[in-house]
Amino acid sequence: MIKIGIIGAGNMGRLHASLAARGGAGKVVAVCDQDASRAIALAAEHGAAAFGSADELLGSGLDMAFVAVPNTQHAPLARKALERGLHVFVEKPFATSEADAEALLEAARQGGRRLFVGLNRRFAPVYAEARRLAAAPEFKARNINIIQNDGDMRNPPWATDIGLTGGFLYDTTVHFLDMAEFLMGPIAEISAVSSKAFYPIEDGFAILLQFSGGRFGVVSSCGYASWMSPFERVQVVGDHRTLVTEELDGLRWSPGLGTVIEAREYAKLPYEEKWGYAQMHAHMFAALASGKAALNDAEVGARTIRLIAACERSAASGGAAVAV
Ligand SMILES: NC(=O)c1ccc[n+]([C@@H]2O[C@H](COP(=O)([O-])OP(=O)(O)OC[C@H]3O[C@@H](n4cnc5c(N)ncnc54)[C@H](O)[C@@H]3O)[C@@H](O)[C@H]2O)c1
Repeated sequence: MIKIGIIGAGNMGRLHASLAARGGAGKVVAVCDQDASRAIALAAEHGAAAFGSADELLGSGLDMAFVAVPNTQHAPLARKALERGLHVFVEKPFATSEADAEALLEAARQGGRRLFVGLNRRFAPVYAEARRLAAAPEFKARNINIIQNDGDMRNPPWATDIGLTGGFLYDTTVHFLDMAEFLMGPIAEISAVSSKAFYPIEDGFAILLQFSGGRFGVVSSCGYASWMSPFERVQVVGDHRTLVTEELDGLRWSPGLGTVIEAREYAKLPYEEKWGYAQMHAHMFAALASGKAALNDAEVGARTIRLIAACERSAASGGAAVAV
């Protein structure tokens, strides 16, 4: 039984605690939050000890820590946990700077402990199926178009506090830069432009991706939309084949010209399965037991931060292509 500590008893900390308890491979034995009442309430639900700080929790004899605090604290807290000899799950983003990402990756390598990142979309049925279809030899994926236009910059209240989020790319677009590589393979070059349309920080991005072999993609991502559907859509086009996702609810694909269009609906799945959280937990605990690589290992997390850094460098120079 893996002894688990939860750092941050907010929305995601609560979710991870309940999934870890449900999964059966671990037991939540400690919870901390800077808001003591949250730590006490969540700890009570799991028969766990409540702590007021991460340092106290990390010293309480754990095997694994889940880091679910605001973004800019991910890398420092995850490093501390690794240095204490714990396995770590860190919510996305992996870090909020390239230097922090590299240092965190190095800490995991040095300590010989597993470090997983919360890129849950990789495990969501809609994207797992999209990957299966796009990877089929006959699909010959050539381009990807991703739109992610949501209203997230008003929720949670710290969403526009760059000191806590690192910025919109780290908070939200990170999932879609990762999805581009998950479905198409490594990105070779990035060009990006950004705007400050309705908020004092950058709130909209148009990102051109170049993959090997002349394949390309576009990510359009902003935080000032209305939440009208579709706010999240991925379209992959190959050799007269197309697949289109609709939020995390479903996808349609055309296996060729003049053929039946097929569809799959995931809308009625329980939330934690539709969004891939439950499958991510099962995958991580299986990887811990087997020692095998995971789809959300630290290398993947660090890579997303390199992609974001390339977007930032390109946008700062007015859209010049940046190699990644
Ligand atoms: N993968 C996903 O789908 C997904 C979805 C939402 C949020 N997230 C990520 O999860 C993280 C947490 O988001 P949330 O929605 O749970 O936020 P939240 O505000 O609901 O919870 C954060 C909690 O952390 C606590 N906290 C802050 N600093 C702390 C510290 N130093 N030590 C201990 N506790 C501290 C706060 O008091 C709060 O209870 C964020 O990084 C966010 O990007 C991921």
